[in-house]
Amino acid sequence: MSNGIENKVIIIAGASSGIGEATTRRLAAAGARLVIGARREERLKELAESLPDARITYRATDVTQPEDMESLAKLALDQYGRIDAIFNNAGIMPTAKLSELHRDEWRDMLDVNIMGVLNGIAAVLPTMRKQKSGHILATDSVAGHVVYPGSAVYCGTKFAVRAIMEGLRQEERENNIRSTIVSPGLVDTELYTTIADDETAESIKKASKIPGVGLCADDVAQAVAYALGTPDTVAVSEIILRPTNQAI
Ligand SMILES: NC(=O)c1ccc[n+]([C@@H]2O[C@H](COP(=O)([O-])OP(=O)(O)OC[C@H]3O[C@@H](n4cnc5c(N)ncnc54)[C@H](OP(=O)(O)O)[C@@H]3O)[C@@H](O)[C@H]2O)c1
Repeated sequence: MSNGIENKVIIIAGASSGIGEATTRRLAAAGARLVIGARREERLKELAESLPDARITYRATDVTQPEDMESLAKLALDQYGRIDAIFNNAGIMPTAKLSELHRDEWRDMLDVNIMGVLNGIAAVLPTMRKQKSGHILATDSVAGHVVYPGSAVYCGTKFAVRAIMEGLRQEERENNIRSTIVSPGLVDTELYTTIADDETAESIKKASKIPGVGLCADDVAQAVAYALGTPDTVAVSEIILRPTNQAI
């Protein structure tokens, strides 16, 4: 019986570490044909080389650059002639209180977390509309549902992605294009390295490594694989997953 993933042509943006890397490994094991991107090309190369039996192509990609996302989509089309799914997973979280006026970090978060997702959608939507099939996924967050101090802008980007992905669902359902957001709580990844304040970064890093307090990246990859593996007639709009001990 098909696992719903085997042979699917799937693009993963933000595949060089954390959730994107774990999803690459899980989907490769399920037999997907993968085209992966992120800025750190060396990490993509190492990842592809660590999976010698998998069908993986990689390309250095900055999701804030529309032409980079177009090139990633073109790579998938040139190689496989179709695009079944894209996982817009790239994200950064340089959290700080608004009063610190970190304008550059605000812009970076809007560019990567929101424009990156939109650039990914734009790169594949014309192809998927022609195919009359496709699946667009994004990593959202519990922070796309609740706001907490110190994370106003990050939460704003994740609320925006939730709205955009629901709008996409409503607009494209008749073209047989599905949209899914996966919204984790705290996950043990490298995301804390994007936080400028060392103390905050260190406390998130520590907490995320405690089982039940932090998820592991593969817990999230498993949710992505579930959504991808459902039949074409089933649209999983959102999966929220928290570490068991998470309060909000
Ligand atoms: N960790 C958590 O607790 C948590 C919770 C909820 C949601 N999330 C979300 O999960 C997603 C993945 O993050 P993670 O936790 O797995 O952290 P991570 O290990 O830091 O991974 C982030 C990924 O995004 C990529 N990225 C960042 N900026 C990029 C850009 N401009 N262009 C292309 N790729 C870019 C990074 O690759 P390069 O640096 O190589 O470009 C990396 O592959 C993010 O959207 C994050 O907001 C994380």
